[in-house]
Amino acid sequence: MKIKVKNCQPGHFYAVGVGPGAPDLITLRAAALIESADTVIVPRSELAEESLALLTIRDLIGDQEVIEHIYPMKRDSAQTRACWAEVAAEVAARAAAGLAVVQVTIGDPMIYSTSAYLIESLAELLPPQHIHVVPGISAFQASAALLGEPLTLQEDRMTMMPATDMEEVARALESCETLVLYKVGPRLRQLGALLEQRQLLDRARLACYVEQNGREAIFRDFREALADNSHGYMSTVIVRVGRRSWEQPPQVVEVA
Ligand SMILES: C[S@@+](CC[C@H](N)C(=O)[O-])C[C@H]1O[C@@H](n2cnc3c(N)ncnc32)[C@H](O)[C@@H]1O
Repeated sequence: MKIKVKNCQPGHFYAVGVGPGAPDLITLRAAALIESADTVIVPRSELAEESLALLTIRDLIGDQEVIEHIYPMKRDSAQTRACWAEVAAEVAARAAAGLAVVQVTIGDPMIYSTSAYLIESLAELLPPQHIHVVPGISAFQASAALLGEPLTLQEDRMTMMPATDMEEVARALESCETLVLYKVGPRLRQLGALLEQRQLLDRARLACYVEQNGREAIFRDFREALADNSHGYMSTVIVRVGRRSWEQPPQVVEVA
């Protein structure tokens, strides 16, 4: 392959998306930056046994310093920001010493990612031209690709949200043609009840551990998904609520 790639520059920070989990879905830019970094920060939630991001990039790790940063899974913004401010200070110290630091994240760094907190804290410590974001393939894109079903066509509106509040999910179903739900795990049955009530079970799909080496489970039949207990946090639901074609004038959908 003769594609020219960019390596890390000394004193710079890179938030790098590594895709859903398969090493060959890492972009060439991401791979070159990880390989040329002095330090690679790998976030892992306190609830996870292993870092999926680290598993994804393990073949790119040589003599870089690897810092596995365990972060709290609490819904406490102050605690979360304080935790990432500490990491930002470590990054800034290395950058001041002329080292290049990469933080890897599953999927894309701009979609429900800890990278956002680190970038926010670093904004006070590094010049803006020293902070870079490298996109990665998001779980919802990889899920749609495996399902072989388009996310959007013509005038369709797509909404993405966590499945944490079923009332909000119910509202979202009223105002989009495609609903992408992250963080589904323990709320799958509640979601199933809502979809059944809205007669949308036939239009919902569940994709678990997509592109994660042998753990992948794809449910085109949502009733089967509800009968299975093996899905966990790494689950994405896609509901194709309807279609908005060019022929139909865009309508305002009333939200209850
Ligand atoms: C903290 S978010 C990370 C999102 C990620 N930054 C992205 O761009 O897809 C975690 C959620 O992403 C979804 N997710 C991430 N990787 C996944 C995968 N390989 N298969 C299915 N869902 C995944 C799940 O809904 C999970 O609860």
